[in-house]
This record gives sequence, C-alpha cells and structure tokens, in this order.
Amino acid sequence: MHKILITGGAGFIGSNFVRFLLGVEPDLHVVNLDALTYAGSLENLENLPNPDRYSFIKGNICDRILIDTLLRKYDIDTVIHFAAESHVDRSILGPEQFIQTNINGTFTLLEAVRQYWIGKKGDSVKDVRFHHISTDEVFGSLDSGAPAFSEETPYAPNSPYAASKAASDHLVRSYGHTYGLPYTITNCSNNYGPYQFPEKLIPLMILNAMVGKPLPIYGDGQQIRDWLYVEDHCEAILTVLQHSQPGKTYNIGGENQPANLTIVETLCEILDELLPDSPFRPHSELMTFVTDRPGHDRRYAMDISKIKKELGWQPRHSLDSGLLKTVQWYLDNSQWVDAIRKQQKYQGWIEQNYEKRGN
Ligand code: NAD
Ligand code: DAU
Repeated sequence: MHKILITGGAGFIGSNFVRFLLGVEPDLHVVNLDALTYAGSLENLENLPNPDRYSFIKGNICDRILIDTLLRKYDIDTVIHFAAESHVDRSILGPEQFIQTNINGTFTLLEAVRQYWIGKKGDSVKDVRFHHISTDEVFGSLDSGAPAFSEETPYAPNSPYAASKAASDHLVRSYGHTYGLPYTITNCSNNYGPYQFPEKLIPLMILNAMVGKPLPIYGDGQQIRDWLYVEDHCEAILTVLQHSQPGKTYNIGGENQPANLTIVETLCEILDELLPDSPFRPHSELMTFVTDRPGHDRRYAMDISKIKKELGWQPRHSLDSGLLKTVQWYLDNSQWVDAIRKQQKYQGWIEQNYEKRGN
C-alpha cells in the first residue's frame, strides 16, 4: 500500500486531487498536510470517498519537525507537493509569503525527504517519489504567433509568484541531480472547476455576475491563457505518478487558448441561459475594463505532445463542457460560496485589489 503525503490538499487543485485519488485508487493511505491559509478550507474536503484511508493534519510545510514526524509516523513513500501561495495579484502586492512558502517550504520538504528516504535507505531509493506541482508561468510570456512552451523552453518567470515557483522547480531538480532523489515535475496551465477560490478569474466573474457586481477585466482583455478543467489535471498527475520514470518533467495543458474577454463573455452567456429570471441579464453588460496587472504576461500556451506521446494522457474536457460544469457547480453550491463571501478577509482582498484600480 502506498503511503502518500499530499501538501496543500485543502486548496483548489489539492482538494480535487485528494477526492479523485481516494475515489480511483484503493491501495493507498493519504495524509493531507495543509496550513489552512485563506485559500484552504476543510469544506473543500467534505464527503470524501473512502475516508478510512485519509488523515488530515493542519500544519505548515516550513515546519521541519512536523514534516520529519509525519514522514516517520506514516512511513511516507510518496510526496505530492501542491502547497503554495498561488495568486499572482497577491504576489505583486505582497511577495514575502511567496518566498516563504514556495521556496523555503519546498526546501524544507526536500531536506526532510532527503534525510528520511536517502538517509534511511542508502542508495536503494527506487520505491519513493517526490512529485512537484508547478506552473506554465515559469516560462514567462509568449509573443503572438510564437510556438507553445515545451519542456525545453528556458525559464523566464515574470511575477514574484512565477519566480518563486521557478526557484522551487530548480531546487527539486537539483535534489534529483545531486542526491539522486526520485522526483517528477509537472508544469500545468490555468486550471478551473469546482472549489476554486473566487480571487481567480473564472470563479470571481461567476460570483460577481450572480449578484450584479462589475466584471473587472484587466487592460484590454486580450491576454491569453491555456485553460484546463481541474479533473483533467488530476488525471494527468496520477498518470505521471504511475507511469513516468523519475527525473522527468511534463507540460500539462488544455489545448485551448481563448482571450480573457472570450472567457468572460462565454461565462455571461452560460449564466444568461442558466438564470433566465436574473435581473442582471444580459450579464455581459456587467463587464468593466480596469487598470491592468503590473507586468501582466500576455500569452501562455502549452505544448503537451510529450505527455501525450510518452504517457498517453490528454484532456477529456472541452472548454465549453468544462465551463458549463463549473458555472453549474457554483450555482449549486451556494453554501460554499456564501461562506467565502462572508469572510472579512475575502472582502478585504477584493477592496485591496479592485477599489483603486479604476477604469
Ligand atoms: P490554492 O491557493 O487554491 O491552494 C493552496 C493550498 O496550499 C491551500 O490549501 C493553502 O492552505 C495551502 N498552503 C499555503 N501555504 C501553505 C504552507 N506554508 N503550508 C501548508 N499549506 C499551505 O492553490 P491551487 O490553485 O490549488 O494550486 C495548487 C498548486 O498548483 C500550487 O503549487 C500552484 O502553484 C500550482 N498550479 C496552480 C494552477 C492554477 O491554475 N490554479 C496552475 C498550475 C499550477
Ligand atoms: O498559468 C497557471 C497559473 O494560472 C497558476 O500558476 C496560478 O496559480 C493561477 O492563479 C493562474 O494564474 P493567472 O494569473 O493566469 O490566473 P488569474 O485567474 O488570476 O488570471 C487569469 C487571467 O485573467 C489573467 O490574464 C489576469 C486576468 N484577470 C484576472 C482577474 C482576477 C482579469 O482580467 N481580471 C481579474 O479580476
């Protein structure tokens, strides 16, 4: 039986992955370590399948003593590292916590597994794996018409968030090269779907539109992201864990790259259809152009031919089907939505990020 430590499993992608993994893999025990920052919530983890195979620990990945204890107590053989500060706008307004969690936290985990796995098992470290969840943002921004990012694209991170993720990727790679740590890294594009905290584009627009608030579009709205439904990301991570050799990195993406404006227009159309009695129809009238994000990356696109060819993974959801499911989920989960809306720190963030943005 595999004993898996998942970090950041109370956040958006982590909680989707915990739910997915417990549902599809009978032969494992999952230990979920999460500090429950503003972005993490136990409500994301209600009604998990097979709860007897699951333990939750509230704690920080920078806490070395705690990590050492968990590795030993559960005899962990696999770490899947999601925990991070993940929002670019927050990294612009306050980068320090990004350095702390994304760089120092990753370093703490790496040191702990190095001593536990390599120290304990000498050179036979084949049966363990450190899987690091990273982002396409480490590659920087693409000019219009430039080829999509491949695994060979040089790193050129532009925001403090992206730089902190790039640093953590480099640390992971160096532990493989120097100490023989069996690692894998996946660099994924923009995820969307259930349980995403409504600071990110898609859930923010859905929540604002539902109550007739402006839909703030940064700059000209022509920035391009590569969108992937979160369940497809979960399948890709499991595929890499099960089938990849250690020491490999894979790009993951959705193979669709609409402009932000198109995303928001599509969300408005879906809401118009699903909420025929809304006083805010047509929701597109709520769209408002606001001051751009400083240093805003213009375009991301992922070349996913390596993971397709070597491991046979490809996304199952089209953008239309994924967006429809996502909007429906937010409409169906008003309790989850209301709990966040009521949080003072959420309202504080909305004021901090949007009130001075102007048009
Ligand atoms: P999120 O912000 O929703 O969740 C992050 C989780 O990590 C939260 O539960 C939080 O409580 C926890 N956490 C933060 N600091 C911690 C610490 N010091 N110790 C323990 N737990 C801590 O993030 P997400 O969107 O789910 O992203 C998860 C991972 O995937 C991140 O590493 C992110 O860089 C990466 N990623 C995200 C996307 C995306 O589109 N969201 C795309 C590619 C890669
Ligand atoms: O590319 C992967 C990355 O995607 C992940 O590594 C990050 O963790 C994740 O947050 C996401 O980063 P982005 O900055 O691309 O996501 P965000 O949802 O914040 O913004 C998506 C696009 O929408 C971006 O071009 C900025 C724009 N935007 C965002 C918000 C919140 C707006 O126009 N208005 C907004 O209010």
